[in-house]
Amino acid sequence: MSILSKNRFTVTSALPYANGPLHIGHLAGAYIPGDIFVRFLRLNHKDVVYVCGSDEHGAAITIKAKKEGVTPKQIIDKYNSQIKESFEEFGIGFDMYHRTSEPIHHELSQEFFLNLYKKDEFIEKVSEQYYDEEFNQFLADRYIIGTCPHCHNEGAYGDQCEKCGTSLNPTDLINPKSTLSGKSPILKETKHWYLPLDKYQPWLEKWLIEGKKDELKSNVFGQCQSWLKSGLQPRSMTRDLDWGVDVPLEEAKGKKLYVWLDAPIGYISATKQWALDNGKNWESYWKTQEDPRDDSTLIHFIGKDNIVFHCIIFPAILHAHGGYILPDNVPANEFLNLEGEKLSTSRNHAVWLHEYLEEFPGKQDELRYVLTSILPETSDSEFTWKDFQARVNNELVAIFGNFVNRVMVLSHKYFAGTVQIGSALTPADTDVLAELASFPKHIEQSLSQYRFREALSHFMNLARLGNKYLADEEPWKVYKQDPERVKTVLYVASQIVANLAVLAQAFLPKTAEKLFAMLNITPMMWDLAGNADIIPQQHILGQAQLLFEKITDEQVIFQLEKLARAKLTNAADSKPVAPLKGNVSYDEFMTMDIRVGTIIEAEKVAKTKKLLRLQIDTGIDQRTVVSGIAEYFNAEEIVGKQVSILVNLEPREIKGITSQGMILMAEDADGRLDFVSPNTGIKVGSSVR
Ligand code: MF3
Ligand code: ZN
Repeated sequence: MSILSKNRFTVTSALPYANGPLHIGHLAGAYIPGDIFVRFLRLNHKDVVYVCGSDEHGAAITIKAKKEGVTPKQIIDKYNSQIKESFEEFGIGFDMYHRTSEPIHHELSQEFFLNLYKKDEFIEKVSEQYYDEEFNQFLADRYIIGTCPHCHNEGAYGDQCEKCGTSLNPTDLINPKSTLSGKSPILKETKHWYLPLDKYQPWLEKWLIEGKKDELKSNVFGQCQSWLKSGLQPRSMTRDLDWGVDVPLEEAKGKKLYVWLDAPIGYISATKQWALDNGKNWESYWKTQEDPRDDSTLIHFIGKDNIVFHCIIFPAILHAHGGYILPDNVPANEFLNLEGEKLSTSRNHAVWLHEYLEEFPGKQDELRYVLTSILPETSDSEFTWKDFQARVNNELVAIFGNFVNRVMVLSHKYFAGTVQIGSALTPADTDVLAELASFPKHIEQSLSQYRFREALSHFMNLARLGNKYLADEEPWKVYKQDPERVKTVLYVASQIVANLAVLAQAFLPKTAEKLFAMLNITPMMWDLAGNADIIPQQHILGQAQLLFEKITDEQVIFQLEKLARAKLTNAADSKPVAPLKGNVSYDEFMTMDIRVGTIIEAEKVAKTKKLLRLQIDTGIDQRTVVSGIAEYFNAEEIVGKQVSILVNLEPREIKGITSQGMILMAEDADGRLDFVSPNTGIKVGSSVR
């Protein structure tokens, strides 16, 4: 049964953590598919609400804040606006982009918790949990890292291994370490409230495994089946943290809700806010209706690391609460890789959306197109800049853009932009028009099954059909002998352009807008039966606009070099600190005469890049030292600086200058230098021991 037999839809895309900017992996995972799907539903007259928002709680946020030395609030405010802007730029058409830090969300999350609490759904349990003594903090979720017992990934978190998707408890990790201190944690008692997933297992098996085996994508179904097979465990819904939604219980003062309890509820609170702002009824998008046929159809777009939360945990919560609809489908995508490696925020191996927008201004649809054609729908896929260039140049420019441009240019050149039938349609024309009418249906069938790549390739085939038609009919050659025939050819061709415009609304919104302006018609909904006469006779086309431009080799090289530079920076960052040297005796150490001196003169040593000649007041004398720091410091700016100097180093000749001593420098793994200087203005000549 087609998805279009339903009338009302509640569509969500995963709430991104507001702890960093978005990259192409985000778009390809949850947002481009969600957006295309919603556009498709709307183009078919469906009542849809599409919600998303920033996920602003949990360790993802607090750890980032700690790293940057700012408050969690500063982190979420910064990234929330950046993320929101990127979505807008790429035309991801949410009705509401909300935030989980909003009071309306805190209230609803607490209502959910209390509802389950009052029904005695939780198991209250005091148990020993990992604790970091140095930071005085319990370690859950991303605060603890260790080896995954299933796939042996060494970077698994306390609640989940992102590599194999398994959901974990901290005590499942092999060789656990605190991500705060890096040390092995101790165990300490604390009380928490657990959701008895084991109790819901039979219900989940019935609803999910029996009920959805034909609907779920195979990658999603497979994951669900394997968790249920290994048996679900109770999962704590509370945390000992100081950032998040307060647990609404007197005896749980100071504790917060687990971020994966509150975040999916964020879909509901976003809908509530949207309803408030727009005079709608949020309950008709979330609550079960008197007649089940009136229930909204709930669809979650996510990446594969979120499957367990959307197929098992959130449905169990909705079920335990009661009165809510359950997901109809969770078309999760696998991961997108970049140039042969996993995308990585921490290693800066990514194509960041805000940077793409600066480097390829106005080319949002080009990225949407390429990402849609390589979506990791059934297995991981790969983005490379060469492939990006090839798809833009050989498909968007050479096929789509070229076809549209020829129709526009010839129509204006021969007939002042007027569309008309000249001589009667030939069998070739009626064939093309008949084929044209079949495209919306093909695309509908692919999209109904969440096959976005296939849908896009149907779309491009329509442009190919147009190109082939022009190549066969050669209006530019025929015009001299038979202009009436050319009128007809361009009439047929302009119907193809019009269909491209209508269908492009689902995939390439900016391009669709341009096409409608070029055709001088108003945007219209889809007609699944096909419409081969969108442009009426005597209609006058608008002006041609540039649709797509070629991506140059220089642009590709620039991007590849940028990724290579990120790699180099990383290699430097991950350099270990210098190993410990062998012991020296106290007496040996005391043979070194190190003193505080002041730089009184500094100048570059002629014909060298690295050397400075320094004149140092050592308290005992003034002497010359040659130092290899010219690439790090300007001569002028270091005059007057107090430094540490080894004064009894054997004099050495350097570039014809006798250097009497050595300035002590600190050097980090990246090769950055700093002086070892006293910082209270202690007297020159003081000894350093
Ligand atoms: N912030 C999560 C992530 O990036 C996704 C949250 S989805 C929601 O993995 F359901 F919790 F909202
Ligand atoms: Zn794993």
